[in-house]
Order: sequence, then C-alpha cells, then structure tokens
Amino acid sequence: MGSFKTLDDIGDVTGKKVLVRVDLNVPMSDGAVADDTRIRAAMPTIRELSDKGAIVLLLAHFGRPKGAKNPTQSLSLVIDGVADVLGHSVMFIPDCIGDGAKAGVAVLAGGDVAVLENTRFHPGEEKNDPAFADALAEVGDLYVNDAFSAAHRAHGSTEGIAHRLPAFAGRAMEAELKALDAALGNPAHPVAAVVGGAKVSTKIDVLQNLVGQVDHLIIGGGMANTFLAARGVDVGKSLCEHDLVETANAIFDAADKAGCTIHLPYDVVVAKEFAPNPPTRTVNVHEVAADEMILDVGPAAVEALADVLKNCRTLVWNGPLGAFETPPFDAATVALAKTAAALTREGSLISVAGGGDTVAALHHAGVADDFTFVSTAGGAFLEWMEGKPLPGVDALKA
Ligand code: 3PG
Repeated sequence: MGSFKTLDDIGDVTGKKVLVRVDLNVPMSDGAVADDTRIRAAMPTIRELSDKGAIVLLLAHFGRPKGAKNPTQSLSLVIDGVADVLGHSVMFIPDCIGDGAKAGVAVLAGGDVAVLENTRFHPGEEKNDPAFADALAEVGDLYVNDAFSAAHRAHGSTEGIAHRLPAFAGRAMEAELKALDAALGNPAHPVAAVVGGAKVSTKIDVLQNLVGQVDHLIIGGGMANTFLAARGVDVGKSLCEHDLVETANAIFDAADKAGCTIHLPYDVVVAKEFAPNPPTRTVNVHEVAADEMILDVGPAAVEALADVLKNCRTLVWNGPLGAFETPPFDAATVALAKTAAALTREGSLISVAGGGDTVAALHHAGVADDFTFVSTAGGAFLEWMEGKPLPGVDALKA
C-alpha cells in the first residue's frame, strides 16, 4: 500500500488552520442535499480535528463549472446539509484562495468548521497550476485529504497542495485505502470479482487488469452478452457490443494465461420488452429467441456463483448482474449480494464494493451495511480497479 501519514501523526492542531479536502459533490434535489453519504463519510475527520481545537477549513469541488463562477454550483448550497450532519452551524467562506479566503478564515476560532467556495471556480484547480496550489496552501497550516472519491484527479486541491503543506490522510481516506489494499493490493486468495453494468466498452481496462489479479471473474449485466456472443451464443435482441467481440476474446485469452476463471451466466431471464414486470422466460443461454433480450442472470447460474463465493476469501464487486432497477430483473443481483453479505457476516469473506450503481444495488438488496467496506467513490474506484495510479493518494505518500 505504501506508507502515508494519518491523523495519528498530525500532532497538536490547537488553533491551527487545517485544510481538509472532502468530497461534497453530492446529489441535490429541490435545492437540498438528496444523499448525504459523502458528507457523513467525512464526519469522523471533521469532528476529530474540531474536537482537538483545529480551525477546520473544508475544501471541495461541486459539479464541473470549468474554471468559472456559477451560482448554481456554489458550495453555499450544501452548507445546510453539512451543518445538519455535523449538528451545529458551519461558516461559508466565499472563496478558497486570496484575500477573500483569508479574511473569512481570520474570524474563525479553534473548533470552528467552515466550507470554502468551490475550488473548480478557479481554472488553476483542474490544471493543477502551481500558482493556484501555492495560493491554496497560503490559506492553511496543514493539509488533510479525506476525499478518496476525488483522488483520481491530479488537481490543485487533491495533488498540488499536498506537496506544499504537511499532508495527512483523513479517517475516511485511511479506511478506504486499508479496505482496497485488503481487496486487491494484498488480498487473501481465492479472490473473486463481480463486474457488471451495461457496456464492456466502459470497463475494458478494469477487466484486463482484474484477470491478472483475481482467481474468479464473474461477468454480469449487459456486458456479459458481449462475452456470450464471443463464445458463439446468439443473444437475440439483447444489448451487445458486437464490435468488441475481439476484445472479449483477448480477455478470455489473458484469463486463461493468468489462471483466472471467467464465469458467464448459463441460464438467463429474458423478455420481449424492457419494462417493469413484463412476461419473462428463464432459459438456457442457447435458447434466447431472436425477439428476446437478456435482462438478468438466471437462478441456476446464481446458485453456481454463490458456490464460487463460498470458496473464496475475498470479493470485489462493481456493477449489477442484471437490469436491477426494473423488477423482476433485480433478482440475481439481490440474491448474490445476500450470499456475499451472509458469508461476510460469518467471517469467511472480505467483501469490498464500489461504484454508483453498485452502492444503489446493495442498498436495494438491504445488505450495504453487511459488506466489509462499501466505497463512496465512482470514477476513483473504477480507476483503482483498472490498476491506475491515483494522484491524490500518491501525493500523500510522497
Ligand atoms: C465524483 O463525483 O465521482 C467525484 O466527486 C469526482 O467528480 P468529477 O468526476 O467531476 O471529477
């Protein structure tokens, strides 16, 4: 995993200005925070620093304003959401650099928590411009990164600043890195990965990396159809990227060489239309009719996959097995997620999941709390699964 400093190493923070990079890129609805998971994830770090008397200055981006001020992407919109979770008031500072930031910070006392305006209002943030990182660093004395979900970005507030101030991983970052290390860095074998989702094209790098790392690769969702087509299966009207059949074959070959078993469904749930509760058939993959589409993994395959998990010590999960948002095509995802949760509770499996749809699917199955670790990250989790370096994490190790 490489070594990085944590809050255990930060020393006396009383009265010190601590810039804490958090992920406040939260979904909104009717002007209010619709899902506060990311805010809650940052609380242990915020509370610990505030309780120790630090002036806690939260740095974050919100949306993609592309270097210009945009009132609809002001972090002032999430202040109430942060205050609600924290349980007391939070100050808003209308800039993250320069005199505007410094004047706002000057009136704060130890223990106070403030949110600084969207870092992406400045073009230097996404360019990782040294002058912008210098200006950010001038606002604080210490830097803590607690935003794993933004760590795939080499931006001023995630990377540049870490080279300019004493830098530490926050509690959420620390937990994330430990869990990911247990899942793919240094895992107990056998390791299984579940990779689902609509398209192979979005996860080619993930699949190519995983076949060299895991013992069992379980492919579900629409992307399984492309692999079935590569094996000569007629998938009817199913979502299928026929132009990626060669890529699928290359992944089969790489898996063979690496000793990784790829699991594809051998029975599937099909329908003639993609709508809630249409007439369905459960058939062998070789019996899909020309006017039918595959919308979920079948029950026999789910049982076989449960047996695979029973023999594994570690599981990494990204993406649903079927079209889980539309009943009854959630059945395979829910059943396998429940098996993984039960094995985790029994202590025989370390289970780590991440990615937007995946978290929603695990909540839908009612098992998100039973997994060993569920990552709040989307893109960063995928890039980690692709085996790519994460600049925000590497900068903490420097
Ligand atoms: C996310 O929402 O996944 C992170 O906050 C990163 O956001 P970005 O994709 O706009 O960099």
